[in-house]
Amino acid sequence: MNSPGRADIRQLEINLNHWYVVACSQEVGEQPVSVMFWEEAIALYRDSKGQVQALEDRCPHRFVKLSQGRVVEDALECAYHGWQINPQGQCSAVPYLAANQKLPSCRIRSYPVREQDGFIWLFPGEPALAEHTSPLAIPEWEHLNYIGTVSVIDAQAHFSFLVENLMDMYHGHLHQNYQAWTGAVLEEVEETSDRVDALYHVQNYYRIDKIWSVSQLFFPQLRRLHPDFLKVSYIYPHWTSELGKDFKIYCLLCPISPLHTRAYLVHFTSLNAFTNLHKLPDDFRRFVKNRLFGSAQSLLDGLVREDVQMIEQEQQAYLNHPERFPYELNRAVASVQRLIRTQAERSTASVDPKSEIRSR
Ligand code: FES
Ligand SMILES: [Fe+2]
Repeated sequence: MNSPGRADIRQLEINLNHWYVVACSQEVGEQPVSVMFWEEAIALYRDSKGQVQALEDRCPHRFVKLSQGRVVEDALECAYHGWQINPQGQCSAVPYLAANQKLPSCRIRSYPVREQDGFIWLFPGEPALAEHTSPLAIPEWEHLNYIGTVSVIDAQAHFSFLVENLMDMYHGHLHQNYQAWTGAVLEEVEETSDRVDALYHVQNYYRIDKIWSVSQLFFPQLRRLHPDFLKVSYIYPHWTSELGKDFKIYCLLCPISPLHTRAYLVHFTSLNAFTNLHKLPDDFRRFVKNRLFGSAQSLLDGLVREDVQMIEQEQQAYLNHPERFPYELNRAVASVQRLIRTQAERSTASVDPKSEIRSR
């Protein structure tokens, strides 16, 4: 039970001073899009150079959604009266401005945003801190030796339930039909104020070392169990895992609200063992990489479906009986909870995103 004065883990804030994923690159095209991040509506758009910009999704004139407008050069033009808002969040044009009128000095919030490794990353915290940290690197996204698959997690639950699920590999029990490994045994947990690393020993079903071994993905009878390692890391606020040498997974978090978590699960199968393949021209290898993109889709979607169902049930059970205290035997979960708490305390939320920014 929580000690008096200690906030419940299921109600903790996120630390805003990190880079979060708010969209896939391909989700932001010519039209602006609206995304939600921790109860804030944000308009994403590409300016005339194709660079992604992020503004509070609220026209400073009458507060309608800017994302319903259109892009005019570098600015976002509101659909209602046509005011244009530049990437700094200032009004840069009003179509009916009289000769004796000045542009309104209203201003909305703009966010540091970057496009990296196939995703749009947003820094929702203190803007000055954005330069001191970087989005989590996903080198496999471009690397020709890795085949990617992306599945979206959308769970009506606090993000802590998702992270605990991802760090507790004993829940492999749930995935009878989809699991790539079995028999997890937790060996080590390392914990700092920024990350938790847990090492499990497992029996791996897959060994991707010959071209034909890729068929193990489709014919379960070809699989042979062998001992391997499974390393999972909560690198706040995101998660990564490595199963032996063949598989790497990232979970990129986008908490929508305290009761709604979205995340991108990005799975990579390694082709590192196929050295003959590496001698082929890069263009061909890129063609193969692109053609095979999504080859683990049904596996990944199946895992996500099963996990989301459990996570949402945990959230509902908590809402019905917050006083009930669950039993826990996996020490990695305790480490995760300490990290979430530390980061929540660290987030002094020096910027209040709800406050209107005005300069006069
Ligand atoms: S509400 Fe946006 S221009 Fe009027
Ligand atoms: Fe799972």
